[in-house]
Amino acid sequence: CSVFATPLILKADAALDVKSGKLITPATIVIEDKNIVSVSQHTPKDTENSDTKVINLKGHTLVPGLFDMHVHLTGDASVHGYERLRRTVPRSAITGAINARRTLEAGFTSVRNLGASGYADLAIRDAIYDGDISGPRVFASGPAIGITGGHCDINAFTHEHRVISEGVADGPWAVRHKVRENVKYGVDVIKFCATGGVMSTGTKVGAQQYSFEEMEALVNEVHMRGLTVAAHAHGTNGIKSAIRAGVDSVEHVSFLDDEAIQLALKHGTYFSMDIYTTEYILGEGAKAGIPEESLQKERQVGSIQRESFTKAVKAGVNMVFGSDGGIYPHGDNAKQFSRMVQFGMTELQALQAATINSATLLKLQDHLGSLESGKLADIVAVPGNPLEDIKVMENVALVIKDGKVEVDKRL
Ligand code: ARG
Repeated sequence: CSVFATPLILKADAALDVKSGKLITPATIVIEDKNIVSVSQHTPKDTENSDTKVINLKGHTLVPGLFDMHVHLTGDASVHGYERLRRTVPRSAITGAINARRTLEAGFTSVRNLGASGYADLAIRDAIYDGDISGPRVFASGPAIGITGGHCDINAFTHEHRVISEGVADGPWAVRHKVRENVKYGVDVIKFCATGGVMSTGTKVGAQQYSFEEMEALVNEVHMRGLTVAAHAHGTNGIKSAIRAGVDSVEHVSFLDDEAIQLALKHGTYFSMDIYTTEYILGEGAKAGIPEESLQKERQVGSIQRESFTKAVKAGVNMVFGSDGGIYPHGDNAKQFSRMVQFGMTELQALQAATINSATLLKLQDHLGSLESGKLADIVAVPGNPLEDIKVMENVALVIKDGKVEVDKRL
């Protein structure tokens, strides 16, 4: 038995260098253990021997493993209303295990899970890491932090029931305490709610939640602990306050004005805009049991968010791919690519959002996000050329994570 790992070689029509936007044609990627050894047009000498495994991907393009910076693995798109309230945390973890696999099958090898009860997302993360179940690498937030009665609280009950979400905290010291609690239990990232939302009861989608003072304390605490922070924000004032407070990413970003765009550019803030999910909510939501209040709010937000997306892209704001998977069925994540192109990105920009930009937001750009020697081998094969037809991203054929073939749909 040799001390050297048996190389795995991928041969494809092309490999995308997401940094330069160039295609390497044809492409050979050599993988050893978890890492990419080389990306080149021809197979390097001496790499092929009798026990090398070669996968031929004729007709396919290799792209970096995809990132979705906003999912809820524990969420089931078909469960709403009373049925949702009857779902326990253990049950949600089982749902999450299934959804993790679906997400990986769609080519997403890394996800940020922004909000889960009972730290169920950390359990999913750890079970995947330990190899108990198959799924993407999960960067998990645990319970999202929010004000009493806000988007991150549960407001469906009367006061007699005394139902309060785990992440509720009011006041600068209380929010610092919540951050510390989440860090104590092992989260990778902090999520908080800076405005009302679509899917919550009794919140105004455009209204700010948390004073600037609270946001500043929260962000300061997160950064002091060496983590990053994502703010849910639809309304303009909430978006601006979150950016000024120093958040790393703003989620949704529906109502933008020029000042908000300038602030994002100045602070280097990332926008994670879930512009596919509106189609699902307005198309399938009523059938799936989404309450009329939420449908009504979605009608206010959906098309304006898409206009804002176009403006942000034009202005050159840092954009990542975030889809809010769980509102629509997990596994459909890649449907958002074609909408990102429809509303102003080039195919390459959409792919950069889902790869190198997301890796950079996570501060993992030295290890993930592009096909380069020395990086972790997270690689996806798609049929055809995604720079010409972005829809091919919806038909992932092969998924490699950490150098291991996790999904092979060609069989
Ligand atoms: N989680 C978000 C909320 O409830 C989803 C918003 C979905 N709609 C949209 N147009 N992006 O506010």
